[in-house]
Amino acid sequence: MADTHRITFEPVDIEMDVHEDEHILDAAFRQGIHLMHGCREGRCSACKSFVLDGDIQMENHSTFACNEAEENDGFVLLCRTKAYSDCTIELLNFDEDELLNGIPIQSVTTRVASLESVTGDIVALRLEPVEPAVFDFKPGQYADLRIPDSDDVRSFSMASTPSTPNNVEFLIKKYPGGKFAALLDDGITVGDEIDLTGPYGTSTLKDGHVLPVVCIGGGAGMAPILSLVRHMSETGNTRPVHFYYGARTPKDLFYVDEIRSLGESLVDFTFVACVSDAAGAQSSGAIAVEEGNVTDAVDRLEPSIAKSEVYLCGPPPMVDAALELLDVRGTPSDQIFYDKFTSPAFD
Ligand SMILES: Cc1cc2nc3c(=O)[nH]c(=O)nc-3n(C[C@H](O)[C@H](O)[C@H](O)COP(=O)(O)OP(=O)(O)OC[C@H]3O[C@@H](n4cnc5c(N)ncnc54)[C@H](O)[C@@H]3O)c2cc1C
Ligand code: FES
Repeated sequence: MADTHRITFEPVDIEMDVHEDEHILDAAFRQGIHLMHGCREGRCSACKSFVLDGDIQMENHSTFACNEAEENDGFVLLCRTKAYSDCTIELLNFDEDELLNGIPIQSVTTRVASLESVTGDIVALRLEPVEPAVFDFKPGQYADLRIPDSDDVRSFSMASTPSTPNNVEFLIKKYPGGKFAALLDDGITVGDEIDLTGPYGTSTLKDGHVLPVVCIGGGAGMAPILSLVRHMSETGNTRPVHFYYGARTPKDLFYVDEIRSLGESLVDFTFVACVSDAAGAQSSGAIAVEEGNVTDAVDRLEPSIAKSEVYLCGPPPMVDAALELLDVRGTPSDQIFYDKFTSPAFD
């Protein structure tokens, strides 16, 4: 059995144990402590923290997430770091609502309930938890799905809400050559088992917050945002919600009718779909379809975005462009929640 050490997190004054053979982030999840995280594989920097005291070792990671100078100064990525003595670690980003109130990580055996193409390359995969028979999560979170007969997992955000814990929907983009994508083509069928672990992620709605909500999603980044919007509709939310969605062409838009009808039950809801391919940008019914990048539409139509809470989900370039815009526009970082849809297959 590996040696165990004590970690103290500052400035929140939370303590936990960590075994020498586990990453500090995983030890925290194991003990119900939800630290900020994203990719969980050293690529995104969401878990970057500062070691005040103790012996640690950081394993291979992207230098974009933590460069050599930062590493020499004492910065670490908790998802890639193991502890070899008691340590004191300063959390640079933390979400007080989530830290000790997160939903415990569950390992669930699920069965494929349905597979449905919603665009040329996005599939709605619905899973029915079997053992245990429900999967508990908060809107905006994600889970790891294990590729059958392998140790590989892929992260996907829930598009459904906790109101249907026995039928969990994911929206999955099929990348050419993708290992999970191959499953969706002819690898799995209704009734097959898929192991799920989660929930992860802190892009959840915060209890008691009142600022208007701006959601920005691209491609399969529709999933967690749809979960948030569905949940706000189900729970009679009264905060203004402005949803901006980016797709390549009008053919890549989906669930538009449902979004429109969800919006009717919200107090101040707008949905703007942006298509980057010039052909076919037009408005249809109550839905505005604009030509161009989703961040350009946000820039033009959200003069008060500094006074909003912003949820971002989708491909890394879209999330990075939106973060840059929010920086210029002065949205405080504690009002921004995001998941970059990275893949373990990225170089
Ligand atoms: C927190 C989080 C939540 C996510 N939620 C979702 C979700 O709800 N829906 C969803 O579809 N995806 C989501 N993703 C991304 C998803 O996990 C990856 O895209 C997925 O791993 C691709 O699986 P694959 O096995 O088919 O492709 P892989 O075998 O992993 O990759 C094959 C090739 O496809 C390309 N590729 C894969 N993923 C991407 C990408 N995201 N952007 C650009 N190129 C890519 C790369 O060239 C890669 O070499 C999420 C990722 C994270 C970190
Ligand atoms: S770098 Fe640690 S969660 Fe992404």
